[in-house]
Amino acid sequence: MGEAIAPWRLVLEKAIKRNKEVTHSKYIQLATVTAQGYPANRTVVFRGFLENTNYLQMVTDKRSQKYEDLKINPVAEVCWYFTKTREQFRIRGTVIIVEEWVNDSNVGQEEIGLYSEARQKAWENLSDNGKEQFFWPTPGKQREKKWDWGDWKSEIINPPANFCLLLLQPLWVDHLQLRGNPQNRYIYSLKEGVWEWQEVNP
Ligand SMILES: Cc1cc2nc3c(=O)[nH]c(=O)nc-3n(C[C@H](O)[C@H](O)[C@H](O)COP(=O)(O)O)c2cc1C
Repeated sequence: MGEAIAPWRLVLEKAIKRNKEVTHSKYIQLATVTAQGYPANRTVVFRGFLENTNYLQMVTDKRSQKYEDLKINPVAEVCWYFTKTREQFRIRGTVIIVEEWVNDSNVGQEEIGLYSEARQKAWENLSDNGKEQFFWPTPGKQREKKWDWGDWKSEIINPPANFCLLLLQPLWVDHLQLRGNPQNRYIYSLKEGVWEWQEVNP
């Protein structure tokens, strides 16, 4: 594998760096489409780029609604606003779900190995509190009076079966800079494997 760094990626990484001290800069909004065709949007943590690619990493629970949405329709858009530098990135693409087994006909054997390693690494990088949530009762189900804490232990080395790494493969990026009058806006799109970009009206 090994993908050239996309032009928008350099701009995004600069924004990440310049907003580093703003704790909420790592939270992004991930929108999916439900089976009924509704948009569904929620906050998740950005877990860095997958090595040698432009893919955005996120983690989630297989028992969550977003997993169901993505299984049926893998399209998604991330919206990311950086408050210090006042710029927004909208990153649209398709999501590869990496679980214990990767069931995706578009993913080759070599990639499956790399993705599984990345899933393991993502698990190891989670805090104890983050890990523990994967042992809680099913998200979104009616809460029982007696809370079942599951059998989580900090020594658990391997991710549980419900732990998923999500890889967003960007196809289109919209970068809006509010700073300046007029504002600046750039659209990047992937055409036959090559990133094209143009400046557009804000
Ligand atoms: C600050 C913040 C960070 C969050 N990070 C994650 C995350 O990394 N992964 C995740 O699955 N849910 C995360 N959540 C919870 C989701 O926003 C959402 O409530 C949950 O995943 C269920 O969404 P779903 O039913 O649409 O799948 C986070 C919520 C907040 C407020």
